[in-house]
Amino acid sequence: MREFIYFSSKARTSGNFDDLMKAGRMDIALHVVINAFFLSHKLRDDTKLHLVFYGPPNPPMHLEMFPGSSIPETGAQVKDDKPDISKKDVAGLIKKMLFKFKDGQKTRVWNGFYIEKKPLFKLIEELKQEGKNIYLLDEKGENIRNMKIEKNPVFVLGDNEGFPNKELKRLKKICIPVSVGKKIYFASQVVTIVNHELDERES
Ligand SMILES: C[S@@+](CC[C@H](N)C(=O)[O-])C[C@H]1O[C@@H](n2cnc3c(N)ncnc32)[C@H](O)[C@@H]1O
Repeated sequence: MREFIYFSSKARTSGNFDDLMKAGRMDIALHVVINAFFLSHKLRDDTKLHLVFYGPPNPPMHLEMFPGSSIPETGAQVKDDKPDISKKDVAGLIKKMLFKFKDGQKTRVWNGFYIEKKPLFKLIEELKQEGKNIYLLDEKGENIRNMKIEKNPVFVLGDNEGFPNKELKRLKKICIPVSVGKKIYFASQVVTIVNHELDERES
């Protein structure tokens, strides 16, 4: 199992939006979802994604996605020859999850899909307590090609603005900084690069 945590300081925390870019760059979150789970002819069933949104009106929101064999709302199934999926479907999925939020509880939206209120550092702490190694994706970290990546790794990455300074300092103390190169890539591209690196190690 591999996990990604995508942090966005501006992504909207309610489902009432239409313009993805104006909803705190929800378009980036959408590309992260696609690159986390989708291969050309199948879904990755070994990947969990945490979206942690700090935008208005109700932060911080934690959307947990572990599709396994299918992504609801999109019709995409593992082993489908051609999972039919549009970006609109994925946007609909995020919107629906946000609409299903209920105060004071972790709500199951579909199998493997949950929403709750939870700060980034609480989530990281819980994953650490489960014995997981947390890697901070940072271009100044050690190159992933030279590193041993432990089993069941968790990779934390930021949105187009990266992490606020205070959070970044704290993350550097509690995570292992890892780089995928000296260039700064889009968050969704970083997810693809890490997935590929782990795929190569597993093959
Ligand atoms: C578009 S970048 C953020 C750019 C932002 N202006 C900054 O300087 O942090 C989005 C995220 O992708 C990850 N990232 C981008 N390039 C990377 C690299 N070369 N190595 C590791 N992570 C990277 C970081 O987690 C970053 O927060």
